[in-house]
Amino acid sequence: MPAEAEAVLSLQNVSKDFVVRHRVLHAVDRVSFDVPKGKTVGLVGESGSGKSTVGRLGLSLLPTTAGNVYFKGQDLTKMTPKTIRPLRRAMQIIFQDPLASLSQRMTVGAAVFDALSLHNIGTPKERWKRVDALMERVGLSASMTQAYPFELSGGQLQRVGIARALSVGPELVVCDEPVSALDVSIQIQIIQLLRELQAEMNLSYIFISHNLAVVEYLSDEVVVLYLGQVVEQAPADQLFTRPSHPYTRVLIDSILRVPKADEPQQKLEALRGEMPSPFSPPSGCTFHGRCPIAQDICSTEVPQLRLLEAGHSVKCHFAE
Ligand SMILES: Nc1ncnc2c1ncn2[C@@H]1O[C@H](COP(=O)(O)OP(=O)(O)O)[C@@H](O)[C@H]1O
Ligand SMILES: [Mg+2]
Repeated sequence: MPAEAEAVLSLQNVSKDFVVRHRVLHAVDRVSFDVPKGKTVGLVGESGSGKSTVGRLGLSLLPTTAGNVYFKGQDLTKMTPKTIRPLRRAMQIIFQDPLASLSQRMTVGAAVFDALSLHNIGTPKERWKRVDALMERVGLSASMTQAYPFELSGGQLQRVGIARALSVGPELVVCDEPVSALDVSIQIQIIQLLRELQAEMNLSYIFISHNLAVVEYLSDEVVVLYLGQVVEQAPADQLFTRPSHPYTRVLIDSILRVPKADEPQQKLEALRGEMPSPFSPPSGCTFHGRCPIAQDICSTEVPQLRLLEAGHSVKCHFAE
């Protein structure tokens, strides 16, 4: 059972392997964390580190290879699609690219209406009332309900994506890079909106971003992933004031640069080299080849995720 009774979601030693052309890729390797009610867990790491996969495993949109996923105490990995179905409306997702998830032939109001219909919420009249109220709440004028996706800007589309996810009254929302494709000024507005809505609706978030600055603003707890493994995990204030893992430190250093919307995720100037192939991860600590403080032991011995102080774990031989 979940360690914390009030956790809306609890991932325990969750792993996911993909088989790609007869080769096994450990996309997610024994990841554990809790998402308490009304709180945000930030998931950070470079592109390919396993963030989206963790998010999808948490919502049971993807089957796990190993481990347990408890949603309000129920182990989703032991349930069938049919028994999970009634829980679906409580678990929603917001994507980086809302345009891809919206039908081009449907007005954006109809898209939100559709989500309500799918879950059998209200009468058609009540649904439209709810659509109008939600559109207004996310900062879109009532007339935009009649607009088609191609008529809206990226920021407006993301507001529709948020309205659609929240329309069905979820408890847990996975926000997967929801602002990464937006201009910086719009990013701030959307993050502010997500924060207000969280307070109003007592939502629990998993907030995924490759940009730690964005994560810092929203998160209560932060999980840092590298090649599918947790390398550091801590309450947000501890992680930002006392980052311990060399990888986390590099990520935090990169905050000081102003991020651009079109910047490739991999381009972290402070970080040496490329991320190794997930098909053949390095021996010992998988970060050793890029690590500024690596010693001999790092290429031969796998460090354990160990507790530094209450709630703060790190997977490094030398971090303190
Ligand atoms: N459906 C899939 N089939 C095969 N490999 C996948 C699939 N989804 C993700 N991966 C691989 O798993 C790893 C983690 O991917 P992902 O979770 O998307 O990372 P992130 O969201 O951090 O960029 C990557 O190496 C990616 O190529
Ligand atoms: Mg992703």
